[in-house]
Amino acid sequence: MPKPAEKTVEKLDLKGKKNIKMMVCDEEDKCVVMPVIRASEGPDVLDVTKLYGDTGVFTYDPGFMSTASCESKITYIDGDKGILRHRGYDIQDLAKKSDYLEVSYLLLNGELPDKKQKADFVNNVTRHTMVHEQLSFLYRGFPRRSHPMAIMCGAAASLSAFYHDGLDSRDPASRELSIHRMIAKMPTLSAMAYKYSIGQPFVYPRNDLSFAANFLHMMFAVPAEEYKVSPTLAKAMDMIFILHADHEQNASTSTVRLAASSGANPFACIGAGIASLWGAAHGGANEAVLKMLQEIGDVKNIPDFISRVKDKSAGDRLMGFGHRVYKNYDPRAAVLKSACDDVLAELGAENDPLLKIAKELERIALQDEYFVQRKLFPNVDFYSGIIYKAMGIPTQMYTVLFALARTAGWVAQWKEMIEDPTSKIGRPRQLYTGYTQRDFVPIETR
Ligand code: CMC
Repeated sequence: MPKPAEKTVEKLDLKGKKNIKMMVCDEEDKCVVMPVIRASEGPDVLDVTKLYGDTGVFTYDPGFMSTASCESKITYIDGDKGILRHRGYDIQDLAKKSDYLEVSYLLLNGELPDKKQKADFVNNVTRHTMVHEQLSFLYRGFPRRSHPMAIMCGAAASLSAFYHDGLDSRDPASRELSIHRMIAKMPTLSAMAYKYSIGQPFVYPRNDLSFAANFLHMMFAVPAEEYKVSPTLAKAMDMIFILHADHEQNASTSTVRLAASSGANPFACIGAGIASLWGAAHGGANEAVLKMLQEIGDVKNIPDFISRVKDKSAGDRLMGFGHRVYKNYDPRAAVLKSACDDVLAELGAENDPLLKIAKELERIALQDEYFVQRKLFPNVDFYSGIIYKAMGIPTQMYTVLFALARTAGWVAQWKEMIEDPTSKIGRPRQLYTGYTQRDFVPIETR
């Protein structure tokens, strides 16, 4: 057995170092060594899978601050440098040069499609855009004032009641079918949630339109008159979908993986992912950002708001700022910021007061010691809401759009997990700090 290190240091920088060893030793200096598994890029990991068997103790890491929950080849993030890549391709390149369905194919299959593969994939997805007619009754059971995310949690999971032939996740053909269905039907379910909330009739999908244009058509067309989708808006929407398509093991994706690890069907797992995304610390932040900007109301109120955030006693956070992984400008926010200028100019809304507040808020925060010290930068949600607002999308739909776009990532991560022969049911352990055994006390003597 190797001897344990004799000197301890407060901080050890192991990034990029070869021959790292992690040992756990008892008081007699008997040690077990944990192997290191090499990453192709980014931090290596210490394999602690045998730790409990070898030592009888668990690791403790609430919030997964230092724990890789799985192995994945889909998305790479370097949070310090502000890098996001899908299958090796930079997000800026994908946002500029690709389209959402092509990125979905890439996430799912690992390579960009050739022309035929792309045409087949687009055709397969597009052929599944309609939803079972009976789903409209599910929608009608909800109060009109329901938050559309509440409807989406139920509607996505309910697909498992309508599409039984895609439920066997061990069968590759079934998997493919449910993946196509999930990506294709999310825009339809999302637009239906909006139409229901405003009392307008559902608009059926139009398969002659692109993915994003079809979504905008289902959102804004009415049977009484013709609606032409603006190509500029469709392009911007598609780019926003790309930017949200995947983000490795975030809360909702981990939820999808954990739910699926028990063998649950993919539609139910995506329903679970939608529920997790809804929280304000995750996908719900885009809605919260807009509410925050509206509450601030005027550039002159920014200093007060910033003081409140820094004071912490009111529990306010600067929404759309900060990220568990990015300690630098979120690359998606950078793309969105410049898209924001373009889209708002196209719509003649470049003087939107909320955009002015957002830019000033960002400028002040980026110079403020509180945010600088904690490496808090704008994230993807900071500018997306302003674009959505300019497009006429109601605030409550923002997180729904996030869910729609993230579906590609969820199904890709689900597929990767199901196809990994070593994957097991996810079953975290705990540090128990409750009572030890005690005698039951009859109610008369309590
Ligand atoms: N405003 C003010 N202070 C903040 C913020 C913020 N937005 N974010 C973090 N902090 C502070 C926090 O109070 C803490 O300070 P201290 O060290 O004094 O205790 C420090 O920064 C570290 O924060 P944390 O909560 O431990 O960091 P985390 O990695 O657990 O949280 C986060 C990450 C995204 C939940 C958090 O930054 C946050 O709540 N941001 C606002 C919500 C938001 O915009 N969410 C969208 C994330 S991007 C989209 C997505 O992928 O879902």
